[in-house]
Amino acid sequence: MKYLLIPKFIVTNDKNDSILTNHAVEIIDGKISSVIELKNFVRKNYPGEIFHFPELTLIPGFVQTHIHLCQTLFRGLADDLQLLDWLQYRIFPYENSHDKNSLRASVKVGINELLRGGTTTILDMGTLRHQEVIFEELIISGIRAFAGNCLIDQNDLFPQFKSTTKEQIEYTYSLAKDFHNQAEDRIKYGFAPRFVLSCSEELLKESFMMKNDFEGAVYHTHSSENKNEIAEVRKKYGKENIEYFNSINTIDDHSVFAHCIHTSENEIEIMKQTKMRVAHCPSSNLKLASGIADIPRYLKEGISVSLGADGAPCNNNLSAITEMRLAALIQKPIYSADVMDAKTVFKLATIEGAKALHLENEIGSIEIGKKADLVLLNLNSFNNSYVENENSIYSDIVYSSGMNNIHSVIVDGKWLVKEFKSLVYDENEITENAKSELQKLLGRV
Ligand code: GUN
Ligand code: FE
Repeated sequence: MKYLLIPKFIVTNDKNDSILTNHAVEIIDGKISSVIELKNFVRKNYPGEIFHFPELTLIPGFVQTHIHLCQTLFRGLADDLQLLDWLQYRIFPYENSHDKNSLRASVKVGINELLRGGTTTILDMGTLRHQEVIFEELIISGIRAFAGNCLIDQNDLFPQFKSTTKEQIEYTYSLAKDFHNQAEDRIKYGFAPRFVLSCSEELLKESFMMKNDFEGAVYHTHSSENKNEIAEVRKKYGKENIEYFNSINTIDDHSVFAHCIHTSENEIEIMKQTKMRVAHCPSSNLKLASGIADIPRYLKEGISVSLGADGAPCNNNLSAITEMRLAALIQKPIYSADVMDAKTVFKLATIEGAKALHLENEIGSIEIGKKADLVLLNLNSFNNSYVENENSIYSDIVYSSGMNNIHSVIVDGKWLVKEFKSLVYDENEITENAKSELQKLLGRV
C-alpha cells in the first residue's frame, strides 16, 4: 500500500520543530517512506494514490498514557465526588458488574471517541475480568495500545471487587503471553496494579518482575492522586506513595504512574533517579478535586511527563485536545502566563507520550522511517484563529480546537477516521448498544 498526503502544513514535531509547506508525505506499508518537496515531484508519474488537502494541517497522532476504556459506559454517573467515594460508591460497583457484552460496548464507544479526537496510541488500564474482550476490540479497531487487566487482590472500599493474588498473577501472565506484540506489534502489554491500596506487596512485585519476560511492556499504576489516599498509604506502610513503590523496587523507566500530584521532595528525587514516567491527567485531577500536579517543576527536573484523559466518569471526555488545553491553563495562575506554552504542551501529547512508552523511534513525529500514525486537522475552522500562516498552528491546536477540527486519523498507514467519519464503527449503533448495555449493567449492580 502506497500513497501520498499533500496537506497545507506538515507539523513534523522533529528536533527542529520544522513546519513544512509545499511538501508531501509518502506512506508505504504503514510507514513514512519519504517527505518530498513538491517542486521535485512529478504527479503524473506517481504510482500510488494522491490525497491533496490544500486546507489541512498534518500532525503526528496524539498519545494518551492513561485511559480506562472499561469506564466509558459510566460517563455522567459519578459526578461531583472525590476519588475514594467515587471508587467506593460508583466505579468499583459498576466495574464489578461488567459482563463481556457491557465491557465490549464500553470499549467501543471509548475507542471511537479517542480516534475521533485524534488519539492514535493509548495506555489503557483494564478491569478485573474479561480483559480478552478489551484486547479483541483494540486489535479490531486499529488503534495502537498498551493494555492489561487491572490487578486488585485487596479492596477495603468494595470487597466484592477483587481476586486472589495467585489468580491475578496467573491471569495477567497468560494475557501477556497471548497479547503482547499482537497485531504486528501494535498491541503491547501494560501490567496494571490498580493502586497501592488495592494491591498486596506480592502482587505489586510479581507484576513488576513479570515485565522482564515481555520486552517493551510497561508497568502502569495510579499514584499520589488524592490526600486521603496517600494518608491511607502512610498509615499502612509508614511511607509516601512513591517512596513505598521505591522501597519494594517496583519503579523504573518502564513505569508509568498516573497523577503524581502529592509528592514530597524525596519522591521527586526518586522520580528523577528511577526515570519513571508521569501520566498527567488535568481534567480528572480537577474534577475529582484531587489537586494540581506540579508539572513545570517535573519538566524542569527532566522528569518524563505525558498526558491522559483518564476515564469518562472523571473527565467527562476522552479528548487529547482538552487535556492539552487544561495542562496549559491550570499552571498559569500558579506560575505565570508564559509557562506551559502551546508548543510545550503539544509535545507532551505527542513525542513525550511516545517517549514515555519507549516508542520515540517509531511514533510521535513525522520523520522518515517512523510509523504512519497521523492526524489531519482542519485549522481553517470558524473556531480557530484567522491567521493565514504557520505562526498560529500550536495555539490553534492547543487553545482553540476541539473534536470538530479532527478531519482524518491514520494508524499504521490505515485510515481509521476519514473526513470526520469513523471507518471503524457505526457511531449510532455503538451508542445505542452502549445505552442498552448500560441499562442491563445497572440492573446487575
Ligand atoms: N485510583 C484507583 N483507581 C482509579 C481510577 O479508576 N481512576 C482514578 N482516577 N484513580 C484511581
Ligand atoms: Fe485512572
